[in-house]
Formats: sequence, structure tokens, C-alpha cells
Amino acid sequence: MRHPHAARAHLSDVHSLSTDGPLATQAVGEALGALLTAGDVVLLSGGLGAGKTVFVQGLARGLGLLGAVKSPTFTLVHEHHARAWPGARTDLAHLDLYRLEDGRVADLGLDEFLDHGVVAAEWGERLASAMPDHVHVILAVPDGDALGTRRTVRVEARGKRGRAIVAAFAARSASPPPPAPSAGAAA
Ligand SMILES: Nc1ncnc2c1ncn2[C@@H]1O[C@H](COP(=O)(O)OP(=O)(O)O)[C@@H](O)[C@H]1O
Ligand SMILES: [Mg+2]
Repeated sequence: MRHPHAARAHLSDVHSLSTDGPLATQAVGEALGALLTAGDVVLLSGGLGAGKTVFVQGLARGLGLLGAVKSPTFTLVHEHHARAWPGARTDLAHLDLYRLEDGRVADLGLDEFLDHGVVAAEWGERLASAMPDHVHVILAVPDGDALGTRRTVRVEARGKRGRAIVAAFAARSASPPPPAPSAGAAA
């Protein structure tokens, strides 16, 4: 199914858009990351190469974490610590659950991590029942994308906090970017 460019769902807890390259997907991730605080959970779905890692790179930037974000496929979790980045607002645990065995979710220690950080999990649908309050980001390559540079990004809310985040995200995306805030707006 094709999503028209920047089409917006009518439901307040679903927001859909499309991007035309990795930088645009990172910008969407950054906009979402800017809305997150410790305790928030973002679950990412989409096939290999859909752009989950690219999205998390932007999300980390939105948290003020400026280090390189690589795919954690072989390690399951990469932790990014705010103390390493002046101005960073919270820690980030970036997970790739592709190899997670059933029932091992409890072993990840995520509840403790959420006291001081955000969790972003690729193949995150595997965490959906364990983490019922979350934002679900679903990335896909649209049909007929000959160049392979377009992605659909569907942002869905689950739970109270998830809905608050998605509502703020949708409101932000619906209007032109505001003038830079005074902090950090120095010439
Ligand atoms: N619009 C787009 N958004 C994100 N990635 C894109 C886009 N167009 C092309 N790409 C490419 O698709 C690949 C996505 O890789 P990655 O983020 O590692 O996927 P995943 O983590 O979902 O397996 C990257 O090589 C990226 O350059
Ligand atoms: Mg990945």
C-alpha cells in the first residue's frame, strides 16, 4: 500500500509520513527523540534495511547523544550514556531483538534502565506485551520505489504516555518548524 507524501492519519494516536532518504528518516527520528525522557519506550518494526537503525541514529541525536549509533545486532544492546555528551538529556539503550529468544525479555534489565534512560528496540514488536506503554515506529519500503530511497514511517501510540508522545509529535510535524529556541540559538 502506498502512503501519499506526508499523509496524516485522522486518528490522534497514529501519525504517518514518508521520507525520501536516510537523512530525512534521521530527521524524523530526531524530532521524536526531542520529545522523549527517561522511562520512554520506542519499539521499531520493519524488515532488514527498512531504516530502523537509521531512525535510532536520529532519535539519539534528539536526546542530545552525539556519538555514533551503530547496529547492535550482534550484541543485542548498546548503551549510550548522557554523561559522555554535554547537554544530553538522558541515557539510551538501543536494542536489536532479532536474535532474542522467546522469554528472554525479562533478562534484559530494561525496567532498571528506564529509571535513567530511554529504550529504543529494533524488532521491538517482541517487547510489545512486556512494555505495553510505548511508541511503535513501523518503517517500510513503499511499493514501486524504484530508487529504493523512500520509506514510509508510521508512528503509533500504545498506552497513556505513548499517546502523549505521538500527539506532541503529530502536532510538531503538522506545523512548520518553530524559530530556534533561545537556548542554543546563538549566532
Ligand atoms: N528513506 C530512507 N530512510 C532510511 N534509510 C534509507 C532510506 N533510503 C535508503 N536508505 C538506506 O536503507 C538502509 C537502512 O539500513 P538500516 O537503518 O540499517 O536498516 P534496519 O536497521 O531496518 O535493518 C541504509 O543503507 C540507508 O542508507
Ligand atoms: Mg538495524
